[in-house]
Amino acid sequence: MATSAPALRAALTGLDTGHGPVLDIGAGTGLVTAAIAEILPSAAIRSAEPSPAMRAVLTSRVFSDPGLRGRVTVLPEPAQDMPLPDSISAAVVFGVAGHIPRAERTELWRRLADRLPPGGPIVVELMGVETPRSIPPVRMCRETLGEQVYEWWISGEPAGAGTMRWRTQWRVYRGGEPVRTVDDEYDWETFGVERLAEESGLTVKRLPRSGPEATPEIGVLVK
Ligand SMILES: C[S@@+](CC[C@H](N)C(=O)[O-])C[C@H]1O[C@@H](n2cnc3c(N)ncnc32)[C@H](O)[C@@H]1O
Repeated sequence: MATSAPALRAALTGLDTGHGPVLDIGAGTGLVTAAIAEILPSAAIRSAEPSPAMRAVLTSRVFSDPGLRGRVTVLPEPAQDMPLPDSISAAVVFGVAGHIPRAERTELWRRLADRLPPGGPIVVELMGVETPRSIPPVRMCRETLGEQVYEWWISGEPAGAGTMRWRTQWRVYRGGEPVRTVDDEYDWETFGVERLAEESGLTVKRLPRSGPEATPEIGVLVK
């Protein structure tokens, strides 16, 4: 999220939020929701997150922030089943599109586009790898909490045609010694922002990015 924040700001700043809520689809723990709320102080936001564990953190973030709790509605549906109002101002789909099968993704772009005003954006963050390849472990962050240091590492390997298997690992250190690791992995369909234009029939603009290998790329779809 840290490397994607400037692009999100560039895509949303000055947006007219009078057409309905801004959707945060696959909101995770709510970092993007909080960024949307800061960039668009008058927006109502609907944040959908299907994973109960992620949604618990999202709900806690919204509950504990007076600037969020009055205007962020947390929903449990995956993108494919998310109930949509008749009109929306924008949609943000960060780190999610490659989890959704192509036909369902195409249908999602159609449902969103039908509800957006002309110029209303769908901001999509991809994983920054257009074809499967090997990505050695990259440390994405290192932070101290109390007496422990936390590092987040990410790596990737091809897992069949058009698919990457991403692995993430949290490493926790105390007094310089490793005390535990927490591992996760998931598959992601690889494609770039041009594919988004093909699937949606919308115009796509690629936003500039900077950072290490596997830094996300961001496209903005508009009617
Ligand atoms: C890499 S995280 C991104 C979280 C957040 N958008 C961010 O950028 O910080 C991917 C999120 O997508 C969610 N997800 C997976 N499949 C989904 C689907 N079909 N619809 C909506 N969200 C989905 C996961 O539960 C996870 O929280």
